[in-house]
Formats: sequence, C-alpha cells, structure tokens
Amino acid sequence: MNWHKIETDIPEQDFVKQIQINGKKLCLLRHRERLFVVQNSCPHAGGILSGGWCRNGHLVCPIHRWEYNLENGRGAAGQGDYIDIYPIETREDGIYVGFRESWIKKLFRK
Ligand code: FES
Repeated sequence: MNWHKIETDIPEQDFVKQIQINGKKLCLLRHRERLFVVQNSCPHAGGILSGGWCRNGHLVCPIHRWEYNLENGRGAAGQGDYIDIYPIETREDGIYVGFRESWIKKLFRK
C-alpha cells in the first residue's frame, strides 16, 4: 500500500470537496463524523462526485442523483455499478489515503 498525505484543510463538519493526489482528482468528504476518500468521477456518466452531497450514508451524484453507499461503494438498487473507496489512516502529522499497487496503475496512468 502506498500512502499519500492529504494536503488540504479538513473541516470538522460534514463536507464534500475535491482534492488532488499526485495530480489525480479525488473526492474527500466527511459524513456522520467519518472521513472518506472516493473516486471523483461518477461511473454512470462521468459526473463530478465532489459536487454532490451525502444522504443517509450515501454519496449522491449531482447530475442524475444516483447514489453510492459509503460503506462498500455499491450503487443503489437497480444501478448495477459502484465507486472505489480508498482506505484512510490518521497519523500524528495528518491524514493519509492509501492506494494498492494495482490501483495506482489505474489511478495514475502515465
Ligand atoms: S453522471 Fe452521476 S448519476 Fe449520472
């Protein structure tokens, strides 16, 4: 696992925002007092998930309002899709997000 420090202000209250790690745009959010880092592009039609909002444990895409479960990434019933959720680790010097080698090839394709 490769860990990258999240270099941005992280509000205490709920929020959804875009961040960049190694030039890759991701979606950072806090919902029900938990932080999540998920992919930023909606698998339905490419909507920007960091422009969305959270509801009942789900991230809602702002374009067609499809929903993704923040526990497992699964789309709501009938959608048949999912989003990637990345592990987070709190360290003394900040919050880190982890990527497996196989994810790095997909995420940071050069
Ligand atoms: S692009 Fe996200 S729901 Fe359609």
